[in-house]
Amino acid sequence: MLKPTVESALNLQIEREEFSSRLYLAMAIWCEVKGYPGAAEFLYRQSDEERMHQLKLVRFVNDRGGVATLHSLEQPQAEFTSLLELFQEVLKHEQYISASINEVYGITLQEKDYTTGNFLQWYITEQIEEESTMSLILDKITLAGAESSGMFHIDKELGGMIQDAVVAAE
Ligand code: FEO
Repeated sequence: MLKPTVESALNLQIEREEFSSRLYLAMAIWCEVKGYPGAAEFLYRQSDEERMHQLKLVRFVNDRGGVATLHSLEQPQAEFTSLLELFQEVLKHEQYISASINEVYGITLQEKDYTTGNFLQWYITEQIEEESTMSLILDKITLAGAESSGMFHIDKELGGMIQDAVVAAE
């Protein structure tokens, strides 16, 4: 049975993962409309992943005798000045999510809820991967400079990353 402090921390994380999914959806829309199909594909996929992160938490809370709760969400940022700014926001957001996961993990330690702590290990590892992927993309965008030919190349590369991920999953 989940302790109320752990249950509410997990529910807050559910809200944050759901918001992440919406944020990346808004970003994917911006990319698609602005003519970055590769980046759009990448972010649509990230949005789906965040929904999966949310669902995994929902199922865990319910399985452990708690009740997953949904909250109203704020409207995500929908306008960006460039692909560079957009991915800076992505990295910032992932760093915020990592800090949030660490906070929840800290609560499980305080409450001696090692089962939930163990469950959260998956998220801790996932955050390391996500932060490193986003840093890598950001470095590439910075190196490419602001010219449209550089952005065209980056966009193709992001589209290629999705293709590789799809092939790897098959
Ligand atoms: Fe589920 Fe990227 O945080």
